[in-house]
Amino acid sequence: MQQALERLDRLYALGGGPGANRVGGTPAEDEACELAAEWMAKAGLEVELDSVGNVVGRLRGSRPELPEVWTGSHLDSVPAGGKYDGALGVVAGLEAVAQAGRCERTLGVVVFRDEERGCNGSRARVAGGSLPGRFVELHVEQGPVLEQAGSPLGVVTGIVGYVRREIVFEGVAGHAGTTPMSVRDDALWRAADFVLHVRDAARAIDGAVATVGRLEVEPGAVNVVPARVRLTVDARAPDAERLDRLLDALGVDAEPRNAPVAMDEAVRAVLRDELERRGLPAPELPSGAGHDAGILASAGVESGMLFVRSLNGGSSHSPAETTSDEDIALAIDVLATTLRRLAA
Ligand code: GLV
Ligand code: MN
Ligand code: MN
Repeated sequence: MQQALERLDRLYALGGGPGANRVGGTPAEDEACELAAEWMAKAGLEVELDSVGNVVGRLRGSRPELPEVWTGSHLDSVPAGGKYDGALGVVAGLEAVAQAGRCERTLGVVVFRDEERGCNGSRARVAGGSLPGRFVELHVEQGPVLEQAGSPLGVVTGIVGYVRREIVFEGVAGHAGTTPMSVRDDALWRAADFVLHVRDAARAIDGAVATVGRLEVEPGAVNVVPARVRLTVDARAPDAERLDRLLDALGVDAEPRNAPVAMDEAVRAVLRDELERRGLPAPELPSGAGHDAGILASAGVESGMLFVRSLNGGSSHSPAETTSDEDIALAIDVLATTLRRLAA
């Protein structure tokens, strides 16, 4: 346990502060993956580095011909992200596999690359084949549900559907002092209307959320009327019907999308049982965040997720993200016995 906490500190320090700075494709993400590979080798796992840089550490089972059982998560972060998002699943996964020990099926701990920008590592893995038979991802909740319920851990029912788009608004550049207001064609006026429309469209659909998280104004000078605005929209809803309605209201293409995906019922049942037999509450909750487990589940891997209570009202994608050492210890224990049962 102490080792897990020290490793979380080490990963958190890698890209410099404030917060976690290991954006996908940067040297800090590479360093994090190299560290994880070292930790795997030190634990006696066989280390595989695939063609896109995903790392898998395997504890070979007594029947290696059977489909494998993996845990793990990602080590990239958003800029100025939280300490636990992704990193907790990798660090705790290493502890849990060590605790589970040799099983019939081979156990694996995976580090998927570049999750935050669109689950690019797990997508590449799915495209290239060579997947486990089952996958359990442990992740900090990133929301307030477990804290409000007073429950240290929770079982995920499914992962929201979402799309991400870049939209460009065009206008005409002009002198900020001499172009009369009546003849301006200011791209930012249109973009601003759209941003407020995004807010209102999501508010009108129960459970939907939508975010304009990046906005670039060109030429971006204090005294020039904006000629072009490039912005991103991230739109999410708990089911396909609501996602369709949201995308329609936003006027953005409905495809490609990350469809909402359910977690495997049998894996969920094992996780619930592991919580109940410890006398813990076993709440089930959906995930509003995307996860590599969703990509694997969509590819037919029997997948489940164990959420660890976030504190601080569920702050995430920010340095305010936090959880407790006690909840982490419980989560490692539950994950270890879950893996044992799935790999028996
Ligand atoms: C991943 O963190 C996401 O954006 O849902
Ligand atoms: Mn994550
Ligand atoms: Mn994240």
